[in-house]
Amino acid sequence: KKRVVSGVQPTGSIHLGNYFGAIKNWVALQNVYETLFFIVDLHAITLPYDTQQLSKATRSTAAIYLACGVDPSKASVFVQSHVRAHVELMWLLSSTTPIGWLNKMIQFKEKSRKAGDEEVGVALLTYPVLMASDILLYQSDLVPVGEDQKQHLELTPEAVPEPLIPPAGARIMSLTDGLSKMSKSAPSDQSRINILDPKDLIANKIKRCKTDSFPSLEFDNSERPECNNLLSIYQLVSGKTKEEVVQECQNMNWGIFKTLLTDALIDHLHPIQVHYEEIMSDSGYLDEVLAQGARNAAEIADTTLHNVYQAMGFLKRL
Ligand code: AQP
Repeated sequence: KKRVVSGVQPTGSIHLGNYFGAIKNWVALQNVYETLFFIVDLHAITLPYDTQQLSKATRSTAAIYLACGVDPSKASVFVQSHVRAHVELMWLLSSTTPIGWLNKMIQFKEKSRKAGDEEVGVALLTYPVLMASDILLYQSDLVPVGEDQKQHLELTPEAVPEPLIPPAGARIMSLTDGLSKMSKSAPSDQSRINILDPKDLIANKIKRCKTDSFPSLEFDNSERPECNNLLSIYQLVSGKTKEEVVQECQNMNWGIFKTLLTDALIDHLHPIQVHYEEIMSDSGYLDEVLAQGARNAAEIADTTLHNVYQAMGFLKRL
């Protein structure tokens, strides 16, 4: 069986972009491949973060994976820092990674520009090396990610994996600016729909989201990024085809469409939220899932790490 590895950082609220760009696709993949889905906590410390919140966010993210349909009897679900090999392999790989490659990474450039040079830790630069370790440790054949992560993957040596970018939902855009991606770190919560947002908040966010004043609604008009994004979100949450959405919505005004979209979002997210509460109310269950996931992952990862030490000429530990 081919192996698939992917994860989300516990850096804030998991939103529709993370869901359609990553988590939802995992649910289909777990039936076909050997899958490992982890909560990427080591990556979450590359920007200033709240030490009081990290473990809480990690548990919550794990519960969201399960609530969205990741099934621990099919997939290994684990926390990155629980498998030590990630950090260890990163050190080994960083000895052969040219700094020039890392300097070119767009996310690094953007994030370091925002934070300022003196504020930025070295880990923000070397983050893609950790990402390469995440993948190489499991010798993944495929890595499902949103489009934004493609450049980071290109760092991972040849012969390793193909990014598996889903055709629809690869890039969910902000509700307040159709040209920026929906993101956990955007300062305004109005810019995203979080998986755990209550009904009223979803309604309020859609009510206030950015639209335009063109007549009728359409996909793929580059002058109307918000319209394309909202129709795409509707398509994804309703499970309809693009043609069906065009038929249904092209003659609607924004008011009518927003009601339709709000209802579809609430209907889609409600069962996930109910399931999330169930999982969070039984902490023993979640702990056991994560412990078993880490054991499975470590078994594979330790073998790879051992081989890398050998190949790099280290003295064998007896
Ligand atoms: N807007 C998006 N549309 C589609 N996919 C997205 N992803 C993120 N945003 C979108 C995908 O979600 C996965 C997990 O991302 P991450 O937690 O590693 O962090 P990120 O890519 O940096 O995403 P965020 O949520 O936007 O966080 P910040 O604000 O910190 O940058 C990845 O597969 C990603 O492609």
